[in-house]
Amino acid sequence: MTLQEPGPLTTEAGAPVADNQNSETAGAGGPVLVQDQSLLEKLAHFNRERIPERVVHARGAGAYGTFTLTADVSRWTRARFLSEVGKRTETFLRFSTVAGNLGSADAVRDPRGFALKFYTEDGNYDLVGNNTPVFFIKDAVKFPDFIHTQKRDPYTGSQEADNVWDFWGLSPESTHQVTWLFGDRGIPASYRHLNGYGSHTYQWNNEAGEVFWVKYHFKTDQGIRNLTTEEALQVSGMDPDSHQRDLREAIERGDFPSWTVQVQIMPAADAAAYRFNPFDLTKVWPHADYPPVEIGTLELNRNPENIFAEVEQSIFSPAHFVPGIGPSPDKMLQGRLFAYGDAHRYRVGVNGDHLPVNRPHAAEARTYGRDGALYDGRHGRARNYEPNSFGGPAETGRPLWQPLPVTGATGASQAPVHAEDDDFTQAGDLYRMLSEQEKARLIANLAGFIAKVSRTAIAERAVANFRRADPDYGKRLEAAVQALRG
Ligand code: NDP
Ligand code: HEM
Repeated sequence: MTLQEPGPLTTEAGAPVADNQNSETAGAGGPVLVQDQSLLEKLAHFNRERIPERVVHARGAGAYGTFTLTADVSRWTRARFLSEVGKRTETFLRFSTVAGNLGSADAVRDPRGFALKFYTEDGNYDLVGNNTPVFFIKDAVKFPDFIHTQKRDPYTGSQEADNVWDFWGLSPESTHQVTWLFGDRGIPASYRHLNGYGSHTYQWNNEAGEVFWVKYHFKTDQGIRNLTTEEALQVSGMDPDSHQRDLREAIERGDFPSWTVQVQIMPAADAAAYRFNPFDLTKVWPHADYPPVEIGTLELNRNPENIFAEVEQSIFSPAHFVPGIGPSPDKMLQGRLFAYGDAHRYRVGVNGDHLPVNRPHAAEARTYGRDGALYDGRHGRARNYEPNSFGGPAETGRPLWQPLPVTGATGASQAPVHAEDDDFTQAGDLYRMLSEQEKARLIANLAGFIAKVSRTAIAERAVANFRRADPDYGKRLEAAVQALRG
């Protein structure tokens, strides 16, 4: 009998419940009895319905889909899900905003998360990216401070312009990402109308052990569509769930959104002499240097049945690699390799990997990890240690990725080592690429926010970064901020 069919209501232990409208009392109108266990269980279960929301990217929506490989990439990677043209791999994609809490509006100016799980035959491969190819900072040690400035101020309880612009002004490496965010693409019209990017540089390695550095791009087949600041204010007020609803309804009506998947590929030998650090997350690889190569399509075609089970409890980790794919020395990525698993064990629990949305679908998790909260006994009586003399899972002897040669002494370092490791050239490139109308909207969006800061020095420092990206950019922004501040 399914829960959609008529039948007796029961307690969590399956016993029939006689009355779900009136609690049991001592006499008519008297106090409630402790022996009404169905009442107590109901209240207690309700109190425990929430798990901690994600510390970032709390607000999101997800869908299952299919990745289809359309090009032979075996000369660059031995990943088996990338091994045969036409091969299809099940996926789950969760979109999100970054700064807002779980119940916040969708149509806001914020990067969008683009977290993609490939259920491959070698285990799950997670690509946890955004809808922007770059990021605000380039070292994980700055991430908690950065997010504190985006989230609610400890005293006012709101996001504060002072905190945001103080941090960005003092972190000039944010200039490229901030230019992107306050441009037209900063408020996508929906989750279907944005590009996804792996953002970091990752390692691919082939059967021969050769290494390539790659960047992933997911170009929306629906076309880029954005909201203006004014449109977004309307939409987020009238329809806070606009992105979530749009995605679910499109899939329900069979209008499956899709993305063309591309990679930029850099032979390992190019990295040291490239004009800037190719592992710097505040920079793109210009297409002229490394043209995107089309490798596949991603289609979303199935809605989750239960948002809490499949979206809220879904977990994605940049550390989930499969043979043929690995990390790069990007300092942000290296920090993320720790942060996500740690967050999952806190937020969902040590057995969260084994929930239906998270466990491998095309492979089996064969570990000696055991027990812990909500362990389901899946290993039965199998030995729980290794090596052993009774058979069972054994190491393969082959790492997923190739080792990286390193030199030099240990120690905190930020010294530029490439000719163009500056923070401003690419922000200026992006500004100069925009049409006159796009520039005008960018300036207005930035000025409207910068003008809200309480100290002139914070506004001036912020504007100075944009001036260094492009003198015209700085001049126009300064005038716009002054006009608003009077
Ligand atoms: P290219 O001309 O080769 O690439 C330009 C890229 O910019 C295209 O991918 C385009 O995406 C994207 N773009 C177009 N309009 C906007 C906008 N308003 N906001 C954000 N992105 C936009 O130039 P380069 O590779 O030399 O890059 C120049 C600048 O383009 C960079 O500084 C970077 O900010 C931005 N960019 C670069 C990307 C890259 O991987 N090289 C990726 C995305 C942005 P589309 O084709 O979808 O319209
Ligand atoms: C979510 C940390 C940078 C994309 C999260 C979460 C943490 C985190 C703790 C919540 C995870 C969870 O509870 O399940 C960090 C740290 C970063 C960093 C420490 C920098 C060092 C980035 C970057 C990107 C990114 C650069 C994109 C390129 C995402 C996405 C999610 C997320 C998409 C949501 C995943 C989901 O849908 O469940 N991040 N993050 N993060 N992060 Fe990051």
